[in-house]
Amino acid sequence: MPRAQRAYRDGMTAAGDTWPENIEVRPVGGGEIEAFLDVFETAWGFTPDGEQRRRTGAVVAGESLLGAFADDGMAGTVMSFALELTVPGQVQMPMAGVSYVAVHPLRRRRGIMRELMRYQFDELHARGVPVAGLGASEAGIYGRFGYGPATWDSTWRLARGAARGLADRDSACCLELVDAPAALELFPAVHEQARRFQVGDVRTYPGRWHDLIGDDRHRGRHFLLCRDDDGRPGGYAIYRLEREDRYSPHAAVIVDHLIACTDAAYRSLWAYLADLDLTDWVVASGRPEHEPLRWALADSRQPTAHSHRRPRSPVGTAGRSSGRAEPQALRG
Ligand SMILES: CC(C)(COP(=O)(O)OP(=O)(O)OC[C@H]1O[C@@H](n2cnc3c(N)ncnc32)[C@H](O)[C@@H]1OP(=O)(O)O)[C@@H](O)C(=O)NCCC(=O)NCCS
Repeated sequence: MPRAQRAYRDGMTAAGDTWPENIEVRPVGGGEIEAFLDVFETAWGFTPDGEQRRRTGAVVAGESLLGAFADDGMAGTVMSFALELTVPGQVQMPMAGVSYVAVHPLRRRRGIMRELMRYQFDELHARGVPVAGLGASEAGIYGRFGYGPATWDSTWRLARGAARGLADRDSACCLELVDAPAALELFPAVHEQARRFQVGDVRTYPGRWHDLIGDDRHRGRHFLLCRDDDGRPGGYAIYRLEREDRYSPHAAVIVDHLIACTDAAYRSLWAYLADLDLTDWVVASGRPEHEPLRWALADSRQPTAHSHRRPRSPVGTAGRSSGRAEPQALRG
């Protein structure tokens, strides 16, 4: 029995084999986006959701989508968003935000992802994109392609009251709770301003704001805006309250996103979040491993990093054999 057939029978494929199918990797055309999303949803086992799918279709349309086509249709997907990465010196560098890596469950371990990755690297290389980044679903997948961990993010937990006095009254910014449409209008510009000064941060991919802020289906999220003395938005936080039961005085403030352009905004946001009535804790995820908050508190031992510290946004080079990019810290 030929090697590839034996491998298929055993459910494995030796490196380089693409048997048993002829796989062609090529750009996905406008009329093939439904098939692209079908493969992606099946690969992840998502329950089809018409509204979510419509939105996703709109987000990916116009980006660089690739499909791996077998004789009977699309079997694998990958795409890249055209992002921008802040590197030292506040220089902006083009970065491919690689996403939608998926292979149909019946066609796995036959080298389809490898073919997609190879084609994508070649394409990025030809376009002169120097760096690619992604968030890996599983740690073991991407090292073989030249990706490596860029940084780690942490979840920080702070007891209520521990940040009291953090924002000095004279320099405290003006805080405002806004609704979702206002958050959608104002927050992106705040992030865009902040990320240009944060090495490793990236321009957010289209659609992320909807994920973070959402619509009516995301009730329960609160949107805290911080304005400076001139009324300009200078920071924000997106948070939720997880209460034991409706009238319980015990709740955790769950911070999903916090961005501040100034020290005053940073202090004001944390001081508010860590002193809400009827709460015990603030828990903020997706934060930098070296959250500066610690050093601003009277008791620097108060904030504790949760155990599920995890790697964030591996980064690799887009060239095939040009060696590894220096890992850059990516912050959400
Ligand atoms: C991950 C996935 C895309 C892999 O596709 P695939 O076509 O089976 O991968 P390939 O056959 O091209 O594998 C290439 C190499 O990666 C390895 N590999 C594949 N999936 C892996 C995994 N989950 N963990 C570790 N290694 C993996 C293969 O063993 C092979 O190794 P080799 O270099 O020693 O030959 C596919 O399993 C999938 O769709 N998973 C669910 C969705 C997902 O997790 N996507 C990734 C999002 S970040």
